[in-house]
Amino acid sequence: MKNILTSLLFLLFLNSLAAQSRQKPVSERVDSVMALMTLEEKIGQMTLFTTDWGSTGPTIRPGYREDIKEGRCGALFNAHGVAFTRELQRIAVEESRLKIPLIFGYDVIHGFKTIFPIPLGEAASWDMKAVKASAGVAAAEASAAGLHWTFAPMVDISRDPRWGRIMEGAGEDPVLASAIAAQRVQGFQGIGTFGEPNRILACVKHFAAYGAPFGGRDYNTVDMSERMFREVYLPPYQAAIAAGARTVMTAFNELNGVPATANKWLLTDLLRNELRFKGMVVTDYTSINELVPHGVAANEKHASELAVLAGADMDMQGAVYQRFLKELVEEGKVPIARVDEAVRRILRLKFELGLFDDPYRYCDEKKEKSVILSDHNRAIARDVARKSIVLLRNENILPLSKEVKKLAVVGPLAADKDNLIGFWSAAGEGQHCVSLVDGIRNKLGTGVELLTAKGCEITGNDRSGFAEAVEQASQADAVVVAIGESREMSGEAASRADISLPGVQEELVKALMGTGKPLVVVLMNGRPLTIPWLGENAPALLETWWLGTEAGNAIADVLFGDYNPSGKLPVSFPRHVGQIPVFYSHKATGRPYQPNNKWRSKYLDITNEPLFPFGYGLSYTTFEISAPAPDKTKFRSGEVVKVHVKVTNTGNREGEEVVQLYIHDKVASVTRPVKELRAFQKVSLKPGETKDLLFVLFEKDFAFLDQNLEWTIEPGEFEIMVGNSVDNVKAVVVVRVE
Ligand code: NOJ
Repeated sequence: MKNILTSLLFLLFLNSLAAQSRQKPVSERVDSVMALMTLEEKIGQMTLFTTDWGSTGPTIRPGYREDIKEGRCGALFNAHGVAFTRELQRIAVEESRLKIPLIFGYDVIHGFKTIFPIPLGEAASWDMKAVKASAGVAAAEASAAGLHWTFAPMVDISRDPRWGRIMEGAGEDPVLASAIAAQRVQGFQGIGTFGEPNRILACVKHFAAYGAPFGGRDYNTVDMSERMFREVYLPPYQAAIAAGARTVMTAFNELNGVPATANKWLLTDLLRNELRFKGMVVTDYTSINELVPHGVAANEKHASELAVLAGADMDMQGAVYQRFLKELVEEGKVPIARVDEAVRRILRLKFELGLFDDPYRYCDEKKEKSVILSDHNRAIARDVARKSIVLLRNENILPLSKEVKKLAVVGPLAADKDNLIGFWSAAGEGQHCVSLVDGIRNKLGTGVELLTAKGCEITGNDRSGFAEAVEQASQADAVVVAIGESREMSGEAASRADISLPGVQEELVKALMGTGKPLVVVLMNGRPLTIPWLGENAPALLETWWLGTEAGNAIADVLFGDYNPSGKLPVSFPRHVGQIPVFYSHKATGRPYQPNNKWRSKYLDITNEPLFPFGYGLSYTTFEISAPAPDKTKFRSGEVVKVHVKVTNTGNREGEEVVQLYIHDKVASVTRPVKELRAFQKVSLKPGETKDLLFVLFEKDFAFLDQNLEWTIEPGEFEIMVGNSVDNVKAVVVVRVE
């Protein structure tokens, strides 16, 4: 009885404390909670577990409910839906001693239930409004399903399409990827003060340089110069942090000898002291435990010590803080101040989310029903999807006429739904996805006869379905063939050594071409593929990535000309896997490439050029882009250079063009890339219309890291180039004077 009374009084005390403190600044409210916490409870806040609903890694921890009740776990992931999150939140706020609410995280990478194009595909839109809108819808749906936190955006630059996670980033270029990173953060979190209930916390990942593993093999070693790191790989993280990202995730890889999760230089010197990041750092899935096999920690206790001292605030799924941190503090190996600092950061997020005021703030069944997969969200997904399609070839085949009477829609992906939502598709379900066949049917109605056949599977060498597909094609007025990868072929732990089209799909296309019918190849894949034959022979070739829930409708919009394709590649497509890494901003070398000169930096058996370059993508109309016209030919310190460019739609369809501006520092104390993207604008033009574009180049656009790794601009000539892909530009020279 006495015990019950004491607990009741304690409860009342906590409630009145909460009510009184509502008006106080967050830091004071955090302190008031901290004052009540035991060391074990603090460590509980630093612990994140997956539920058994789904796993996104190699381990599952049963007993997480008990952990919540005992205050041994302050955050969960892989739980979503109002009913489930409410049930778990109830344990935290009713059954744990301090009633601290849980945060629910999830990999909402390209949509929650309404799935958007994979991030690499979305990057091909070069459309910042579209990118932000997509993250905004993802946040609205995820928050309506009880979630507070997404493990996105993934901002890792990658120049190696063997790496399966290239699908999750924005490609090879730091300027494009930084712009996209900022939009994604703001789409998820909103701008400025955080805390609107239709937004979720963003988590920038994977800090850092996870996208450059040797051999393109996931989780592999990363070793690169600090110059390369700072000039190419770091900017997108920086941009995401500057855009307000509240959390950062450590990477699995080592960077120059020190695994990211134990890397004090990365997590403290750079992230906190230099980039001024104020939020919370979470590790990746068991990445503290992995410090043991990495060989920098003798055991998991040692690993915990290294990680917490390096700056990792929250342990994802490793349960090592839970097991060892108390001991480490008691032994004096980890100062309690470091634990307090981490817990403060975590509690601050919970206050900002409004969870202390209402732990069920994100638990509204009505909202869940009305927001998720709404027509409104699907319409945005369709628009973003069609903007992400890249037209790679078109020999006067596209757009197809809507008057077509018989259309063959064949290939292993023609009627597929499950693959089209891609890897990391959160709560997305294939059943809600519009297949290509359905998209075409939706567009053309019953007036067209659709002849369908699979032809073959994505993998394997069974050609027994070829005959049927060829038969269908030969009866049709035109043929659309959908081929590519399955969704498991890219994403985490999905590196491929051979990135050509799997199975006998290319042979199927050749067999179909034998019919002589107008033929469109629709690629569906998570990475650049080595497809030299298709790249040189397909009558029409569309790169559609994994476009998500509205894939079929979006592709049909492009096939039949209701949307004029405007996507541009955010990453180079190699001709051959042996060229990798192939990226546009390479150095000249002392023996620059010349195809007919043996003594040059080249291969004996293949060109240096990619199959399709960065920034490339065709339209159903044509554009003329003028040479860049700078407002001055000489500029001094403190001056900006204003560059005027005229772009004209010279064809007879309305369309959008991405005008890209590159620079080249011709002579510098450190070798510079042959081209570097500095700015871009996407504009829409009616037939015959001309627009004047203004690009303003600031000091930073001409700067680079000198031999002492200090940012500098050196006097001399800079080429300024503009065009509609990296290999189609017009140039002028401006001079920087002392
Ligand atoms: C491991 C992945 O690397 C990371 O990106 C993801 O957020 C976590 N698993 C959680 O699923």
